[in-house]
Amino acid sequence: MLNRNEKSEKMRRIYMDYAATTPVDSRAFEAMKPYFMTNFGNTMSLYSIGREAKRALEESREKVASLIRAKKNDIIFTGSATESNNLALKGFAFANKKKGKHIIISSIEHHCVLDSAHWLEKQGFEVTFLPVDKYGLIDPKQLEDHIRKDTILVSIMHANNEIGTIEPIKEIGKVCHDYDVCFHTDAAQSFGKIPIDVNKMNIDMLTANAHKMYGPKGVGTLFVRQGIKLDPLLHGGGHEFGLRSSTVNVAGIVGFGAVVDIAKKEMDSEAKRLSKLRDKLIEGILKIDNSYLNGHPTLRLPNNTNFWFAFIEGESLVLHLDMKGVAASTGSACSSESLEPSHVLMVIGLKPEQAHGSLRLTLGKQNKNADIDYVLEVLPRIVENLRKISPFKK
Ligand SMILES: Cc1ncc(COP(=O)(O)O)c(C=O)c1O
Repeated sequence: MLNRNEKSEKMRRIYMDYAATTPVDSRAFEAMKPYFMTNFGNTMSLYSIGREAKRALEESREKVASLIRAKKNDIIFTGSATESNNLALKGFAFANKKKGKHIIISSIEHHCVLDSAHWLEKQGFEVTFLPVDKYGLIDPKQLEDHIRKDTILVSIMHANNEIGTIEPIKEIGKVCHDYDVCFHTDAAQSFGKIPIDVNKMNIDMLTANAHKMYGPKGVGTLFVRQGIKLDPLLHGGGHEFGLRSSTVNVAGIVGFGAVVDIAKKEMDSEAKRLSKLRDKLIEGILKIDNSYLNGHPTLRLPNNTNFWFAFIEGESLVLHLDMKGVAASTGSACSSESLEPSHVLMVIGLKPEQAHGSLRLTLGKQNKNADIDYVLEVLPRIVENLRKISPFKK
């Protein structure tokens, strides 16, 4: 007989919440190590360990820039995607307020964009929250109809963190440029997963981070096209071209550079592999009675699935899956402690009780075909058992 500890050791552990965060790639971890204790210098120092830190910083800047075909000096390192989005919205709004005070964002943005926009409203800016269709897609024509003479900035995410829908960024950027409006996109979920070319896609500012792509937490970037004026959020020593003062997190940035290098080599094959697993998971789960896919059937991230199940609560599903060793999420990671239904699911037309019955399974490097088979084996039984005791099912 196995004792309890042995049993839990034997239990299968499957991580399917890669949209929330990812484990650090061992190759990136190895690349980071020397920058904690040996090459620990400050990038602003003139002596050799400082110069080595500065060299590593600039090498990572080059790597990150080349992934999105940006110029090296248009890459600013920050502490997170949240910080990059705050800098893009607030920094741009304040530096350009003489040109106008109207901003447009989509209504399905991550909270760090939505809340920055709400904060700007309190500072006297006007914000239009663009609706999306039932799949979460923005209509570029509708965006055009909302652009005014005083519109200075449009911020629309590349791919949604909850439902995985990929927006028509190139067309959106084109509309912005036709009207001489700056276009920012939050690419935290797409960076390193699907190709991005800031020039071909008409992007002026772009947000990304390392921890969604097998890099460390606490490192982000904002691409800012040359010529765009931003007011910094942090004032001080003038790091990062004066846009983000504070001693640079060299080890983290080296880790970011390393995962970007890995993504350049592996992104295409990994996207193909994950798309197959995703489609198998979707097909299998939709065989469960009264289950529905959230988000677009094809214009979605290779690793994203999101469903709603009638008559049950997403939280119960997540807890029961956890008991079977599967880590999943309801809606988005950031709002999992909130009782409010996900704003994204509400905007695409779900009723609150439907949104509360949602489950997000997001795939990544460690997931294999057998993991999909396992989820397709345990999930239908969990759904069935929960429905038996559901007060919602008459
Ligand atoms: C689309 C999107 N934007 C921004 C963020 C915030 O990222 P960070 O954890 O680096 O602040 C996330 C993370 O959940 C995200 O999914």
